[in-house]
Order: sequence, then structure tokens, then C-alpha cells
Amino acid sequence: MKITISQVGKHVGEEVIIGVWLYNKRSSGKIQFLQLRDGTGFIQGVIVKKEIAEEDWNAAKELTQESSMYVKGIVREDERAPSGYELTITGVEVLQIAEEYPITPKEHGTEFLMDHRHLWIRSKKQHAVLKIRSEIIRAVYEFFAENGYIKVDPPILTPTSAEGTTNLFHTKYFDEDAYLSQSGQLYMEAAAMALGKVYSFGPTFRAEKSKTRRHLIEFWMIEPEMAFVDHEENLQIQENFVSYIIQSVLKNCRLELAALERDISKLEKIVAPFPRITYDEAIDLLQKKGHDIKWGEDFGAPDETAIAEHYEMPVFITHYPTEIKAFYMKPDPQRPEVVLCADLIAPEGYGEIIGGSQRIDDPALLEERFDEHHLSKEAYQWYLDLRKYGTVPHSGFGLGLERTVAWISGTEHVRETIPFPRLLNRLYP
Ligand code: 4AD
Ligand code: MG
Repeated sequence: MKITISQVGKHVGEEVIIGVWLYNKRSSGKIQFLQLRDGTGFIQGVIVKKEIAEEDWNAAKELTQESSMYVKGIVREDERAPSGYELTITGVEVLQIAEEYPITPKEHGTEFLMDHRHLWIRSKKQHAVLKIRSEIIRAVYEFFAENGYIKVDPPILTPTSAEGTTNLFHTKYFDEDAYLSQSGQLYMEAAAMALGKVYSFGPTFRAEKSKTRRHLIEFWMIEPEMAFVDHEENLQIQENFVSYIIQSVLKNCRLELAALERDISKLEKIVAPFPRITYDEAIDLLQKKGHDIKWGEDFGAPDETAIAEHYEMPVFITHYPTEIKAFYMKPDPQRPEVVLCADLIAPEGYGEIIGGSQRIDDPALLEERFDEHHLSKEAYQWYLDLRKYGTVPHSGFGLGLERTVAWISGTEHVRETIPFPRLLNRLYP
């Protein structure tokens, strides 16, 4: 019977066939140990010379790293194996003896590995990170389905900017100018007025000249938007959402977290509610720690890390100065110099994973903001319309997928959290 490595637990004692690649091997004359992978998992195959046809023994001896084959074997329980199982191989049908594989078990430099990203993703750690990414995506869809949200897909080619004009990707749209979407938010606000609670999940683009471990040029964002939801309710949705994702990964990715040597005791603590501090309190804290920062300035990565150090949980920083945040954020009615917004900072130095806010619902104030930010009311007429026809309090946020994967999987740099990263100096492969 043809099965996958992930299914071996249901076939203990049976003879099965699995299509695999050779990950690694060692041999001791009379016995060969093959580390096999098939995409669904890893398993050790054991070949004993006197128990297999000579032809198959010899074929196995020729196998090079990443050679492809069908193996036949009997599934055995084995407590020492990470997956709990081992395969006693009874036959080998080679598909291809692979050419000399560029990525060997020895250490390689990052640029070399990035040049070979199409092959690098086969390795155990990259495999684990991509599985965790997939589990997070699954949990995202499940959370929103269970909570009554409608999935809406905003456009990727847009006539205007959503998050500021400094990092737009320009392209031609026949005779017009167009930009790749930086955020679907403005369209999601329109969708929330039509469908109530909505979310999008898609690629977004920022032509950012930053070369940090937290920045990608192309990244995936989850953007919920909710009608009749205020700032406080928005934060509650976020903490429940992030807790849900963490608990799903803990439940469904045990082997992957182990392969990455992730300290899961740190993740097990992540349960809503999350701590909150205001921007003002954060500035105080940083100044006491000797950071060179004044009220009105935005936080850099070292500032965020210093704030996060005080907590074992993600922390919301709320009420940023109006001046340094996006034009659409609603001012605090008690204190209009700050906005009803929050950034969620992940623990362990992984930085901002969510940016969100309550949105301006007052048509006159929104028009004022357009003037202050020199935005074209013509280009955004449709957005202004949303405040004319039954405006309501509404809020939303954006969760960056790759930063979330980096945090949960314990991966230093976001470039390893997306299959084919687009970076400042990299468009290949
Ligand atoms: O804080 P940002 O820019 O917020 C927005 O775009 C809002 N329109 C979202 C909304 O309210 N609907 O981006 C949201 C998140 C960040 O917290 C971060 O996790 C991620 O997107 N992000 C990036 N991730 C990787 N590389 C980049 N260059 C990123 N820029 C933002
Ligand atoms: Mg932000």
C-alpha cells in the first residue's frame, strides 16, 4: 500500500511503499541507515544486508543525497526516533541518482543558501518553518470562519496609496499610473460597510529601502475590518486572534517546533488578555532606560525590543501621537493629539506584528485630514463616500504573516519565513 511518512502511525507492522528522497545516510558494512523525507515528514529507513536482495542492497549503496526512489518496508514503532517510527526496508526502486547536491550537511553562508532557496526549502528546519506557516494560515481562516467574518479580496493593483507615499511600487496600468497594494485596508472599510465583519489575506508590497531582519518587500497581511467595533473591542479581537493562532500551532506542529528547538514554554504562556501600555508610558520607560527618544518620535526596533523585554506576552502600545500615524486613524476624543490605535509588539525581540486602529468616521474631520496630508479628494472620492452614507464607528488591524511566523517558529530573520522572499537586493530565485 502506498502511503506518506505522515501516515506511518496507522500502519505499524504492515509493509508499505513510500515515495521519498534521501536526506542523509550512514552505513556500517552490513547495515545502512537512510534518513528519508517525503515532504510530509522524515523517517529513518534501515537496510540489513542479509535480509534484502543483493540488487536492492547495491542500489541503496549508490544513493546520493536527494536521490529519489520508492522504498518498500515494514513500519516499526521506535521510541528513540523523533517521529516515533522507523522503517525496516525490504525493497528499493530508484527513480534517479541525484547529481552532486550543492547543500550538504555542513554549514553554508546565507547568500549561498538564498541563491539556492529552491533547494534549501527541502532542509529540515526550512521544512518545519514552512509547515508552521501553513498551520498559521489554516488557523487564521478557521478563527474568522468560527467568528462570523466574511473573506473579502481587495485589489492588488491600485490607483492610490493606503499607507503613505514613500514606499509605493509604481507600475503602468495601460495609460494610467498604478501601484501595487501596500494594504487592502481602505477597500476593507468599504467591505465592512457592506458585510459587517470582514477580513482579507493577501500579498502586500512596500518598496522599503530597509535591510533589517523584519522587513520584506513583498509580505502577506491579514486585515480584518469590523463595523460597529471601537478601539477597545478591536484590541480584544486581536488578543483572542493571536492566542488562537499560538494554541493551534502548539497543538498541531509539535514535531516542527521540536525540529526548530523552539522553547515552547514561552509560547504556552501566550493567552489573552495581553498587557497594554500607552505611548506616553512607553516613552517614559525608554527614557528611564537611557534611550535617546522624545515624545513625538516613532519607535525603532531597539526601542520595541526594550519595551517587549518587560513582558512575557505580546504587549499593545496604544495612543500614539496623531502626527506620526496614518491619516485615517481616529483621534482620542479626550485628547486629540493622540489616536485610538495600537501596535502589538511580540515578545523575545520579534517586533511589531500588528498595526491597527479605530478609523475616523466623521466626514468633516476626514476631509480635514486629506487637506493636511495633501491627499487628492478626487482619487479617494469613493473612500470619502463611505462617511456620507451611514457612517458608523469601525476598526480594524493588519497582522504581518511573516513576522508572526518568525516569532512562533523562533526564526531570527523573516527571509526564512516565506518560501521565496523578495528582499532589497534579491529577486532570485
Ligand atoms: O503597521 P502596518 O503598516 O499597518 C497597515 O498596513 C494597516 N493598513 C493595517 C490595517 O489596519 N488594516 O502593517 C501591518 C503589519 C505590521 O505590524 C507588520 O507585522 C507587517 O504588517 N509589516 C511587514 N512585514 C514584513 N515586511 C514589511 N516590510 C512589513 N511592513 C509591515
Ligand atoms: Mg505599523
